Amino acid sequence: MPQIVDHVQVPVVAAGGVVDGRGLVAALALGAAGVQMGTRFLLTKEAGTASYYRKALLTSTEEDTVLTRAFSGRPARGIDNEFINQFETSGVEPLPFPAQNHLTSTIRKEAGRQQKQEYSSLWSGQGLRLLQRDGEEAGAVVAQLMNEAKSIWRGWNKTAQDPL
Ligand SMILES: Cc1cc2nc3c(=O)[nH]c(=O)nc-3n(C[C@H](O)[C@H](O)[C@H](O)COP(=O)(O)O)c2cc1C
Repeated sequence: MPQIVDHVQVPVVAAGGVVDGRGLVAALALGAAGVQMGTRFLLTKEAGTASYYRKALLTSTEEDTVLTRAFSGRPARGIDNEFINQFETSGVEPLPFPAQNHLTSTIRKEAGRQQKQEYSSLWSGQGLRLLQRDGEEAGAVVAQLMNEAKSIWRGWNKTAQDPL
């Protein structure tokens, strides 16, 4: 992050594995202008995430995630499953995006209808161990994040007695 920040003249948004206020503060300390969070919001009330997908997010760790081109033709991280397994061991080269995405969409739609996580794309970042609650309101998640970040900041101000 600091290397990117030093090399570009535009604001840098940190993305990937930021799940709470600690991640936000860490990213800001490394020079980011802000963060983008994906996975944490998949568990919010407002997200249209299926219940089997929510369960997979809450019971998996980063070690269960893999980068795959199996679903869309472009590399993306998701929770490993039978679809990825079969595709990756088949030796078949995925078609270029968006053809592969189009090709697999019927399977994924039907898997969703049947609530089958083994044949769905379970997109996920690597901050899974930090996810705890399902069904929080998105606004409450943002408010909690800001409170956590502020309390870290206040803690620093309280303890920093000018170490120099
Ligand atoms: C449901 C979902 C769909 C995503 N779709 C895309 C996508 O189409 N293109 C892309 O570049 N990243 C996509 N991502 C990855 C996000 O860019 C990623 O979640 C973001 O970098 C934040 O990381 P985090 O999920 O660890 O918070 C997706 C992530 C999720 C959870």
